[in-house]
Amino acid sequence: MTQSPKLTRADFPEGFTFGAATAAYQIEGHGFGGAGPTHWDTFAATPGNVIRSEDGARACDHYHRYADDFDLLKAGNFDAYRFSTSWARVLPEGRGQVNQEGLDYYDRLTDALLERGLKPYQTLYHWEMPAALSDLGGWTNPDVHNWFGDYVEIIDDRIGDRMEAIATINEPWCVAYLSHFLGIHAPGTRDIRAASRAMHHILKAHGEAMTRLRARGRDNLGIVLNFDYAVPATESDEDARAATTADAVFNRWFIEAITKGTYPAEALEGFGAHMPHGWEDDLKTHIHQPLDWLGVNYYTRNHHAHDPAATAWPFAKGVKGHLATTQMGWEIFPEGLRHFITRMAKEYVGDLPIYVTENGMAWDDRKINGTVNDPERCDFIQGHMAAMTQSIADGANLKGFFYWSLMDNYEWAEGYEKRFGIVHVDFDTLQRTPKASYHMLKDILAKG
Ligand code: NOJ
Repeated sequence: MTQSPKLTRADFPEGFTFGAATAAYQIEGHGFGGAGPTHWDTFAATPGNVIRSEDGARACDHYHRYADDFDLLKAGNFDAYRFSTSWARVLPEGRGQVNQEGLDYYDRLTDALLERGLKPYQTLYHWEMPAALSDLGGWTNPDVHNWFGDYVEIIDDRIGDRMEAIATINEPWCVAYLSHFLGIHAPGTRDIRAASRAMHHILKAHGEAMTRLRARGRDNLGIVLNFDYAVPATESDEDARAATTADAVFNRWFIEAITKGTYPAEALEGFGAHMPHGWEDDLKTHIHQPLDWLGVNYYTRNHHAHDPAATAWPFAKGVKGHLATTQMGWEIFPEGLRHFITRMAKEYVGDLPIYVTENGMAWDDRKINGTVNDPERCDFIQGHMAAMTQSIADGANLKGFFYWSLMDNYEWAEGYEKRFGIVHVDFDTLQRTPKASYHMLKDILAKG
């Protein structure tokens, strides 16, 4: 069911930015151009972690095809592009020797965007830790913020002057909790001490990058956080508590630390005993400092229940919901997007610009007679655009929306099977085919 009438650019405030998002490891082809090994390469090569053990070695070959991909963005009437720069491409060992080829590539890529009038929104870390640093503990190592800060200055030297905006970290919950407590992403650790340290060090690294970039005169600096609408599975007090704990770990930990300098008590119940030495001081010296904008990634809601069989914190489990789901099995719940944008404005960031830095859906899209028809995605986008206009009416200073993703790509532990793009990619021939959702966006984003 396509909603009508369709929302268009004209339904958003003047100057609202529409873009599409990607990330380096998911599209570039990490095997090209002298990039060093990352923890995702080894995670994927270890049996049982990733569907068919697929990795990002070739991905969409964006490394060689970026100009054509940006032509599509331009022709689609987008204003901006959110991408990430890969630490291991810039510094193959994570520290020390710089890969000039990598810097040259990001230089060309930046120029190619600007030549087309597309605004570059850079993310400094979107999940591929150089393997040499992962060997030293990666996000659990107490020096990781310094390693990250050094990389940030090197890439900033080369392209920072031409960025419209810079985000330090993409989705710290995934980097820390999903990867070190649940073990679902690289490095695949299931260890509460490692998770607690990663939950803190990722924020310390964010702070270190902010401080160094500010000292270099950069502005328009932010972070990209992901939010999942957390609901109790039943009306019981135990399930309410499970949802409150999930909300604290997922939706409050990072934003409260940055904007208030504290961690939620419900999350410290689990992490408190395992935190690194001096964490309270780090909150003051590194983490609690002003942002210029906040990025919100939003996809779904989750149901939480008390788990009577659990013997350790958080004593909870996920339960299936009843709404329609995407190819990921994620419930489609646009109201959650309005909730988070409005909640961020009211409780944490006030008038600070907010961007929806990711929102989108995976579907089992098929190319038939040369075209890909994805009415489900068109509806999804329209539903979430409506949620954005509602949050603007609530008073939030929402400034832009980036669809995830420009093209089908490497969906981490799910390999290449889950298709999020508005552009279809044939992973045998690497041919790009804009889907119906791309054409819808092109139509509704046309100016005048
Ligand atoms: C969040 C991540 O930033 C991105 O890398 C991922 O592909 C999408 N969500 C979809 O899961």
